Order: sequence, then C-alpha cells, then structure tokens
Amino acid sequence: MSKNIKGIDFKEGLLKDYYLHAMWLRERVTDAINLDKNNLQRLYDPSLIDTNIFIVDYKISDKNLYVKFSDKTESYYNISDLHKEIVGKDLIPEKKLWSNIDLHILKFDSYVLKNDENLFIKMLEKFYEYGFVIINNLKSKENEILRFAEIIGPIRETNYGKIFDVISKRKANNLAYTSLGLSVHADNPYRKPVPGIQILHCIANEAKGGDSTLVDGYSVCEHLRKKNELFFNILTSTDILFKFIDKDTILENKGKLIELDSNENFKQIRLNGRSDYVPLLEKDLLTKYYEARKYFFELCNSLDFQIKFRLEKGMLIMFDNHRLLHGRTKFYPNTGLRHLQGCYLEHDSTEGKLRRLKSIMN
Ligand code: OGA
Ligand code: ZN
Repeated sequence: MSKNIKGIDFKEGLLKDYYLHAMWLRERVTDAINLDKNNLQRLYDPSLIDTNIFIVDYKISDKNLYVKFSDKTESYYNISDLHKEIVGKDLIPEKKLWSNIDLHILKFDSYVLKNDENLFIKMLEKFYEYGFVIINNLKSKENEILRFAEIIGPIRETNYGKIFDVISKRKANNLAYTSLGLSVHADNPYRKPVPGIQILHCIANEAKGGDSTLVDGYSVCEHLRKKNELFFNILTSTDILFKFIDKDTILENKGKLIELDSNENFKQIRLNGRSDYVPLLEKDLLTKYYEARKYFFELCNSLDFQIKFRLEKGMLIMFDNHRLLHGRTKFYPNTGLRHLQGCYLEHDSTEGKLRRLKSIMN
C-alpha cells in the first residue's frame, strides 16, 4: 500500500462515495489513551494533532475499518456507526405535521407508563412526532405534575415559580390566570431562551367553558409558505420585541414570529398577541407586516388547523411550545372550579432522555 494516504475513498459498501479524511478519523479514535472510558470525552485537544497526519495502512471488512496513522496510533471503527454519524441519524423521530388528529394515538395511561419503559419511550416518540401527548389517570392533586415532569427532566423554573397555578385570580400578572378565553399562542416569547416544552395538569375543570385548543403551528407555517410567500417572508424576517412586565421584573426578548434554521426548517414560533411589540418600520412594510400577522393568526385560529378538547381532572397535556400553539375558551368561575398546574421543561434534557432510553433498548 502506498504511503502518505490523506484519507480513505470508499468505493463500495455502506460508506460508498464518502471520503474519510485522515484527521477526521484520527479524532475519532476511542482507545484508553485518547478517550476517557468513564465519560467518553477526549483526553487531548484534537487541535494539537499535526494537520499533516496521514494513514499508513488500513483494512476494510464488512463491519469494521482498521486504520494505522502516521503517529503510530491504530484504531478500529464500526462502519455502521460512522455511517450513522455522517448521515446525521438521530434517535429523535422526525416530525409528522398534522392539521387534524385522532387523539387516541397520543393518549397514555399514567399507571401503565410508570411500569412500562417501552411505552414511556413510545410516549416521548409520539411527543416528538406530533408535538404533544395526553396522559390520563394522574391523581388530581396539587404537585402531582412534579412527579410526572421530573421523570423526564429538570424543570425550567421561571418567575412564575417551579410550577404555576392556572386559576382565575384577582390582579393576575398574566391573562392565563384569569377566566378570559385565550386565542392560540406560544408561551413566554419574552424569555431567553423561550421554554421549549409546556406541561399542564388538570386538577379541576368543573366550570362551564374552559375547553383546550391546540394547533400544529408548523403545519400552518407550511401552508403559509405555499399560499403566500410574501407574508411568509415578512414573518420569517422581521424581528419583534416581546415583553413581560410586573412588579418584580421586566423580561424582554426579540425574535421572528416564525423562526427558521439555516436549512429553512421551522425552528420556533412566537405567536403571542399579549406581549408583542412590532417595531416602527417604514409605513408600507409595517402595513404588510400587519396584514401578514393577521392572515397567520386567522389561519392558526381556523377550524382547518385547530383541534378542541376538554381537559378533565387527572389529565395532563405535554406540548412543544416552539411548535404547537395552545389556547382555551373563556370559562365562568362562578359555575365551578377550574384549576390547572403548569411547568416548563427544555428540549435538550427531554431529547437526551429519549436518546438514552432508546440506546439502552437497542
Ligand atoms: C397557560 C395557558 C391554558 C388553559 O397557562 O399558558 O395558556 O387551558 N393556559 O388555561
Ligand atoms: Zn399559555
């Protein structure tokens, strides 16, 4: 074999047409000199490796790749693992956008969930596919939400507390804590970062009214992208200020109403008519912005996209606050008690939990 090979040009097999650079392979060496076995972190800084490193010898078999480097390091690689990394395979399932959905596939029983790890995994997978799940048969008592949430990950505490009570009260610092109806919205766009996941647990829902609404915001965005490119471009490019003010704090954050990632995939929606402050743009642009926001709002609140259901006591809903929009109909506190408790989680810990559970199972 000729010396000084800069990389391996695969001609067949799973890695066909991939060129694996010598340095790229060198920094993936997993022996005990290079990697701490306890935490799988590198014991050296890869920037210190000579960038002229080359491959002295290699062998490809069905499952493994053997490589010997010019610095005398030798290593075996699992070809399937390399392939998974290259194509960016993730254990988190792909999103399935919906405009109407059969709630049955998203309902899980809290007791069964506690005793069946496979079902727990399935619950988290459905959550990532559809953006929400419903858990039935929890105890309808205060703080029960903590017992559920903490199985998944640490709670994101905010100035509303570790958990918050969604109950009609006087002098509420958020309209959620009144009996008013709430059009569909994303929670807390004024926070940095915006909470990724919201959980609402129903302790009592005896009042007239107070039904829940949900929309797959990404499904609406996809529709908007196809139907009105101008509106879509405005909403994905204009920075809006979001603000929360009470006696203890003033929270502010800026962002697009529809945020895209660098691949133009949906990253986050910030529809919240209670807390947005549109900047004073040039007049024609501002007119267009308001038309675009109105159109998007109307789509989100239309029956074409919105589902409505009732949270009964002992039920819990967990939803992606970056993707789904949620709301409720007005309720009448003098007809009975309505009491939910809520909290926030983050996607990093929730995804992390799902990846960990799935990789143990695999
Ligand atoms: C909230 C909220 C909905 C409800 O607390 O953020 O939107 O059903 N609540 O009360
Ligand atoms: Zn809300």
